[in-house]
Amino acid sequence: MQELGEFERVIGSWEGEQVLVRFDAPTESWIFICIHSRRLGPAAGGTRMKVYGSTADALRDGTRLAAGMTVKMAVAGFSFGGGKAVLAVPALLEGEEREGLFGRYAEAVASLGGSFWTGCDMNTTPADLDLMAERCPYVFGRSVASGGSGEPGPFTARGVFHGIRASLAHALGSPALEGRTVLVQGVGSVGARLAELLAEAGARILITDLSAERAAELAERLGAGVVQPEQALETECDVHAPCATGGTLSVDTIPRLRCRVVAGSANNQLATPADADRLSERGILYAPDFVLNAGGIFFNVGIEALGWDEARVERALEGIGDTLAEIFLRSEDEGISTGRAAQALAESRLEGRNG
Ligand code: PHE
Repeated sequence: MQELGEFERVIGSWEGEQVLVRFDAPTESWIFICIHSRRLGPAAGGTRMKVYGSTADALRDGTRLAAGMTVKMAVAGFSFGGGKAVLAVPALLEGEEREGLFGRYAEAVASLGGSFWTGCDMNTTPADLDLMAERCPYVFGRSVASGGSGEPGPFTARGVFHGIRASLAHALGSPALEGRTVLVQGVGSVGARLAELLAEAGARILITDLSAERAAELAERLGAGVVQPEQALETECDVHAPCATGGTLSVDTIPRLRCRVVAGSANNQLATPADADRLSERGILYAPDFVLNAGGIFFNVGIEALGWDEARVERALEGIGDTLAEIFLRSEDEGISTGRAAQALAESRLEGRNG
């Protein structure tokens, strides 16, 4: 009953269009397909598989992530709306169980007739999408062997890299990474690649990850330092780069930060929109996540839906730095936080204006 009350609160306070809910009895998993907005076109967003603390947490995550996709697509200039799907599993599934779940989930996506398109997200891979594609055409990012564009992670990382350079240029007067310290929080498919790119560019890298083994392995390879997860927030650095789950920046955590810039790949880094104001009050430059982490859609959606070639994708990734620079200036001109300036840019696109 308590859970039901939570469901009512989450959906009742959401401004999105619809949520498709399925309970997948064979795997005891909940499927939530959250369509936030189709104002600019069919909703699109990745599918996340995760073990949540409660089913309501999963629904909350899906609805919030879907809203993030709406503004991401708008700022990217794509004719797609925002959506996201969450597979709330009792444990990360493998083998036949996983295939069974993805097959049934694909049928749920197919039943929406193209109002929702999906791709990879946390704990899902091009192989899962290949399987889905047997039952449902609405997928971006199948494996290259199956005719898709493949893994988006390296492209998301490259976009974030360009965005970090633009952020450093604005905050410290130079985009150069030599001698700068970047703390990468979470070294999964995007964070690990980002750490490599930053190390190659001469930055000093600090790594933190819930898996001590994964952190140690990458740190050894890159000559980076390792920071314990509990120390991630207060570790002094130039750039704090959240690259794991969202919601790490809040009224409680922002006072503890000791960095000049927050710029990472995670979706929904802020617990609430007001946290962008808190960062700006502390003199920390925040690179809005949905602007910075659009590299994955530039790659998968750009190539598969818009017919882009690799050179066009590269230009779009570099353009992330330019879009951020515009947002930073707008924030200064209008005396609003960078988060609000990015939101305003997204809203103007959603309302069909240009600015
Ligand atoms: N996981 C991607 C993101 O958060 C979403 C995505 C990838 C959507 C690929 C469509 C295709 O931006």
